[in-house]
Order: sequence, then C-alpha cells, then structure tokens
Amino acid sequence: MKYLVSVVVIIVLIACGGGEKKTQEATAKYTYVTPTSEMLTNGKAVFDKYCHICHKEGIGGAAMLTDKVRWTENRSKDLDLLVQHVHDGYTGNYGTMTPMGTCMECSKDDLRDAILYMMDEANVL
Ligand code: HEC
Repeated sequence: MKYLVSVVVIIVLIACGGGEKKTQEATAKYTYVTPTSEMLTNGKAVFDKYCHICHKEGIGGAAMLTDKVRWTENRSKDLDLLVQHVHDGYTGNYGTMTPMGTCMECSKDDLRDAILYMMDEANVL
C-alpha cells in the first residue's frame, strides 16, 4: 500500500511539471487575446499620454490609429515581437520609433495594453 501511494505521488509530481511551464511562459509571453476592459483603459491612458504623439495622426511614418491596412500588417506579427519592438525601439520600412514609444516608465504589460488598445480602435483584433 505504501508503495502504491508513493507511485501515485510521483506520477502527480511528474504530471504537474511546474518548472517546465514557467520556461514556456518566458519564451512566449504575449499572445493575442480579447482585451479586458482594464487592459483597454490602461492602454488608452498610455496611448493618450505617449503613443498618440506619433500614432494619432501618423507622424514620421507611424501607423495612424484609423489606418486599418497598416494595423493589419502589424497584427500579422507576433504580439511578443511587437512588444519587443516598442520596448527596444524599431526602424522599419516607414520610419523609426523611439525606444519605449517614449514611455520610459512603462512596463511591458503597459506597452502590450497600448498595442491592443490601438488594434482594438483600428478594428483589427
Ligand atoms: C516618436 C514617434 C512614435 C511614438 C511616440 C510611438 N511610436 Fe510606435 N511607431 C512609430 C513609427 C514611425 C513606426 C513604424 C516603424 C516602421 O514600421 O517603419 C511605429 C511602429 C509601431 C508598431 C509596429 C512595430 C512593428 O514591428 O511593425 C507598434 C506595435 C507601435 N509602434 C506601438 C507603439 C506604442 C504602444 C507606443 C506608445 C507606448 C508607440 N508606438 C509610440 C513611431 C512612434
């Protein structure tokens, strides 16, 4: 009986594999989701304070908020990659975005929320 209990415990431990799951999350953290109202509220606040400088009117080659074609193009990239591009700064075919999209105190989650907010406004999610 004792033997059986330890076998069951070992199986449960293997099945849970806690450590493995964490590694997976670290490599692919951000995936497209339907944004919650909290994410949209936070994303709008970041947009209104920072991203709007370029993305509202499409200054310097930035995708305008209403430019569905450009936002569809952005949407075709992994969200993880987009968050990384905003974080590090990015130069593509249209122009150059400054690192953090000028929001130096933003976390990656804040940047993700701002991206999803803009995509939601552009109707490409
Ligand atoms: C100084 C102007 C500027 C600001 C401020 C700015 N952006 Fe950008 N952004 C750009 C430009 C220009 C591009 C286009 C780069 C290209 O594709 O050539 C861009 C592209 C992007 C892309 C697409 C990246 C890709 O891989 O194609 C995303 C997503 C984005 N911006 C999000 C944001 C967010 C979120 C903020 C605010 C936190 C922000 N931007 C603030 C100028 C700006």
